[in-house]
Amino acid sequence: MHRSPPRSLVLGLMAALVLSGTGGSATAEPTISYLDDRRPVHDRVERLLARMSLDEKIGQMTQPERQNVTSEDITRYRLGSLLSGGGSVPTPNTPESWADMYDGFQRAALAAPLRIPLIYGVDAVHGHNNVVGATIFPHNIGLGATRDPELVRRIGAATAEEVSGTGVDWNFAPCLCVARNDRWGRTYESFGEIPELPSQMSTVVTGLQGRRLGGPASVLATAKHYVGDGGTTGGKDQGDTQLSEAELRKIHLPPFQAAIRRGAGSVMITYSSWNGVKVHGHDHLINGVLKRELGFSGFVISDYNGIDQIDGQPGFTPAEVRTAINAGIDMVMVPSEWRRFIETLKAEVEAGRVPMARIDDANRRILTKKVELGLFERPLTDRRYLRTVGSAQHRALAREAVAESQVLLKNQRNVLPLDRGNGKIFVAGKNADDIGNQSGGWTITWQGSSGPITPGTTILEGIEQTAGKSGTVTYSRDGSGIDGSYEAAVAVVGETPYAEFFGDRPGAMGLDAEDLATIERLRASGVPVIVVLVSGRPLDISAELPKWNALLASWLPGTEGRGVADVLFGIRKPTGKLPVTWMNSVSQQPINRGDGQDPLFPFGYGLTYRR
Ligand code: BGC
Ligand code: BGC
Repeated sequence: MHRSPPRSLVLGLMAALVLSGTGGSATAEPTISYLDDRRPVHDRVERLLARMSLDEKIGQMTQPERQNVTSEDITRYRLGSLLSGGGSVPTPNTPESWADMYDGFQRAALAAPLRIPLIYGVDAVHGHNNVVGATIFPHNIGLGATRDPELVRRIGAATAEEVSGTGVDWNFAPCLCVARNDRWGRTYESFGEIPELPSQMSTVVTGLQGRRLGGPASVLATAKHYVGDGGTTGGKDQGDTQLSEAELRKIHLPPFQAAIRRGAGSVMITYSSWNGVKVHGHDHLINGVLKRELGFSGFVISDYNGIDQIDGQPGFTPAEVRTAINAGIDMVMVPSEWRRFIETLKAEVEAGRVPMARIDDANRRILTKKVELGLFERPLTDRRYLRTVGSAQHRALAREAVAESQVLLKNQRNVLPLDRGNGKIFVAGKNADDIGNQSGGWTITWQGSSGPITPGTTILEGIEQTAGKSGTVTYSRDGSGIDGSYEAAVAVVGETPYAEFFGDRPGAMGLDAEDLATIERLRASGVPVIVVLVSGRPLDISAELPKWNALLASWLPGTEGRGVADVLFGIRKPTGKLPVTWMNSVSQQPINRGDGQDPLFPFGYGLTYRR
């Protein structure tokens, strides 16, 4: 990410001045040895650690939300990290003002005596999705349908460039969840329901970080949410994953092993429990399995207020802080209560309930990644990457990914592909002309929203551009105005944006009344109806399907709707395969490959065109 002219010299000199100013007699060389990037990483980390007070060490382990700190706080409390929560953005929400915000915070960190740079994290889970104008890629479920790990690596690299252009160092992605129950509102964050898919798609880690940390546009990746987030009973977000250890290891652990092999720098703990025990306090799973057994050498971050949940009561107690840190959490995401966290952890250490060795271990892990990222040498935004935000090249990659992610599930009498050039096509549906709806949650805001929230090409616009001048495309949202003169009617329907917690569907999982009415209007005209389903997961459609002539699962494609049109018109043949099993009825949830249930479409299903 950070690639400005060699700053190490300048920084070193400045640090020498600062240090000799406060410390008096120190000569430059020994005092600032940890800033010398010719020394090995571990040597620099040890030299730095040796100079740090307990307050400075606890500061490194504390991650407030940007809205709850001032620059003075960062300097004074020696804060080591900040995050932007979903939708927590500077005003105006432009790439430049992100970079300015980041540099402002970073300068405040560098103003503290030891000049340890901040590491700043965001959720760039389908492109740099908080930033207006960024390229929004398909959500992971669509990428799982592509079965194309190299494409996913390239998406990681493109995302890292856009993230780097805004200064940000660290991405809370990928979600390597294995979503086992489609009722779960985070199903779309999953690459698929069997461990092999997220494991293969861990190439995104390599895309984000580069071959090694610290190269151009290298952003620290986070394998999340460790472990079992997609296995909760009833698909309940933050719920309980009730599995034997053997099953947990078989289904939910492999993607983390794959990400660790790829050098993922951080791991985020899941809000969920395993057999009734919150993973945020789970010594066996964090210290035992993740760190000792798998040899994870990066650092572990807790989820947003995640330590609060260990005892089931709101807020955190000293016991929760102690349990979480002793279980192996290295950095704590404490969006607002960070001052109390710092006091609490300090008191726990002073009372001997959190060993100093644990604090040092957490600091070694965090500081190692900061050194490896080159943050000490290049702490400020590399603004050369600003122009990559929403660039034509990245949008072309996203369009390719959208086309590859389409899964053709039905194509009666080869109604698809549509004719280009001379066709007369009717388009309808609430998701036809809506960037917000086709992007889903984690887009500009945490939960996402309908409407023209960021620049892009809607599916309708993609169809219009592809149909060309000689084709006729008529649109009405509710399907009114159609008559028998059209060659085909395309109904773009499905879900509207949601994210974690709010997205759970414990009840029915069918289309809403608006969609059903739209499709009925189209059908009444006698024109063949092609349903394009924009959704974060399979829906319960088996009763409706016989009335549709074709069905294309589009998932949540993001800003490049033209990729959907590419497949509708046969510019690209459909190649996507289901990354999840498609239920025959909602009563089958959870339904997964190999469980003996009879699905509507099996895992791996997907048609193509013959011509
Ligand atoms: C989510 C994480 C996310 C974090 C920071 C949490 O609520 O579970 O996936 O990284 O917030 O936004
Ligand atoms: C934040 C998200 C976070 C969530 C946790 C929201 O207010 O914007 O980033 O994941 O809270 O509950």
